[in-house]
Amino acid sequence: MEKQIEELKERLQKQEKLASLGMLSAGIAHEIQNPLNFVINFSKMNDNLLSDLTELVNAHADKLPADDREEIADIMVGLKDNMAKIVEHGERAISIIRGILLVSRGKEGELLPSDICKIVKEYTWLAYHAMRANHKGFNVGIHERYEDGLPQMMLIPQDISRAVLNVMNNAFYAVWHKAQTAAEDYKPEVSVSVVSHDGNVVITMSDNGEGMTDEVKERLFENFFTTKPIGKGTGLGMGITREIVEDRHGGKISFDSTVGEGTTFIFSIPIKA
Ligand SMILES: Nc1ncnc2c1ncn2[C@@H]1O[C@H](COP(=O)(O)OP(=O)(O)OP(=O)(O)O)[C@@H](O)[C@H]1O
Ligand SMILES: [Mg+2]
Repeated sequence: MEKQIEELKERLQKQEKLASLGMLSAGIAHEIQNPLNFVINFSKMNDNLLSDLTELVNAHADKLPADDREEIADIMVGLKDNMAKIVEHGERAISIIRGILLVSRGKEGELLPSDICKIVKEYTWLAYHAMRANHKGFNVGIHERYEDGLPQMMLIPQDISRAVLNVMNNAFYAVWHKAQTAAEDYKPEVSVSVVSHDGNVVITMSDNGEGMTDEVKERLFENFFTTKPIGKGTGLGMGITREIVEDRHGGKISFDSTVGEGTTFIFSIPIKA
């Protein structure tokens, strides 16, 4: 009994700490969002101004000494590159902040009749294109299966989209990361299927990527747990995903993973008409 009370006390303390940490980080995230938006928007404006300036300079290039002309062109290219980097990294910071706000505030969305197959398809391809944009030349085979005639389900569409996107982003990262060291004949593959089973819709998402060790499996849903390098992952994806599927939709997440072979995530969500 005493041991149980001790354990309960510890758990409570931990939860209180987490709750105040959540509120603190939500506050900070919210305050940082605005100035960061200014940084991004003014950088984009500078980028446009720079394009105008380049055009002007080019139009009068014949009036400049040849040496200066080259140097000016080099400086312009350098400025444009730097500006693009400011925008890119600023947007990365914004997306981290959005993630923090999502977990710590847990804003309630509305349940709406939704087409689950359409959502899964759309966000699978969104993740695919994001991955392709970040890793030029890298490609993945995608296999899809959507059961015909699934009914419209009551879902919070933006939340389910987020959950699918989080899992898909991880899947694409896992195959990309594996491809960096795998044998030549490695073929990255990601599969997704949506079917109904026993009054549930079952969404299965598999990859033949790097897989997870036992330690990673244990800590997978922990907020801020990540194995990715700084800037690549925040460690919030799966925590948010579990909250969305289990707490907000009364569903269940299960997964299976083998190091070097791949990972499968399954969402099972009750169909409520
Ligand atoms: N499909 C997968 N294959 C291999 N490892 C995975 C997979 N999905 C998740 N993981 C592991 O779980 C960790 C936590 O995932 P999670 O999505 O919560 O955070 P993250 O991807 O690191 O960061 P982000 O907040 O950007 O999603 C990852 O860093 C990775 O080690
Ligand atoms: Mg992730």
